[in-house]
Amino acid sequence: MAGSPGRRPTSSRPSSPARSDVPPRSDVKNEPQDAPAEARRRRLLYGRRKGPKLSAHQTQLLETLLPKLRLALQPGADPRNYFSSGTISDVWLEVGFGAGEHLLWQAEHHPTVGIIGAEPYISGIAKLLSKLLLSPAGRRESNIRIYDNDAREILEALPDACLGRAFILFPDPWPKSRHHKRRFIQMNTLDVLARVMKPGAELRFASDDADYAAWTLERITAYPAFEWTATRTQDWKARPPDWPQTRYETKALHGPPAYFSFLRR
Ligand SMILES: C[S@@+](CC[C@H](N)C(=O)[O-])C[C@H]1O[C@@H](n2cnc3c(N)ncnc32)[C@H](O)[C@@H]1O
Repeated sequence: MAGSPGRRPTSSRPSSPARSDVPPRSDVKNEPQDAPAEARRRRLLYGRRKGPKLSAHQTQLLETLLPKLRLALQPGADPRNYFSSGTISDVWLEVGFGAGEHLLWQAEHHPTVGIIGAEPYISGIAKLLSKLLLSPAGRRESNIRIYDNDAREILEALPDACLGRAFILFPDPWPKSRHHKRRFIQMNTLDVLARVMKPGAELRFASDDADYAAWTLERITAYPAFEWTATRTQDWKARPPDWPQTRYETKALHGPPAYFSFLRR
């Protein structure tokens, strides 16, 4: 059904907030659409897989708990099949969950939703596993699955119109112009997100990097398959109550965050 929805040139929407309300837009000269597809596929978007030395407890969790929750890709399969519980009614995806506090909150508050978290950073995965062990979501049949690699791989393996929500929270900003091609938000990523998201599904994006926020807004508002839900400044400057703070956000590294919500048309 939801095949590639095509694109249209960048333009502002009538319902967009006033120009002065949105972050300044970025330079698009590094858009990587000319790069050969194979090169784009191989380009690493994340910085590192390993962090500080893991504790013995974390190592044990990676050896014992991770194998139970690790998602083995089944290209084209209904993602509800990745969960053993028969009560899973919808599936959401979090790209780059970091230490997993947002993912865990969503899993605990939405027990009938299966949440797939993609994160290649081993220390982050170990942190999520430690928290999971102590949480109600860890005690019952877990509605969390972990893909310990590049989120683009799971996106490509998903069938059309299968996700109810996607979260991309504080993705690596790659601030230098020559690294913009490593940003997760690219036209080809939007193509695949548009394909796998259900009509009415929500895409949430946050960044404290004004340039990356503007880059994202420019691309998604120009993309016909997505509609920005904001109608006033507060809608993107304030974090909604069902959107808990992430570890990265608490560091407030670059500036006040922008919280964007887009709907798949
Ligand atoms: C700046 S951190 C933010 C983590 C978390 N969302 C938060 O707000 O605390 C970005 C994370 O995205 C992960 N990441 C980067 N590229 C990714 C990709 N292609 N697929 C999955 N995760 C990715 C990185 O490993 C890193 O942990």
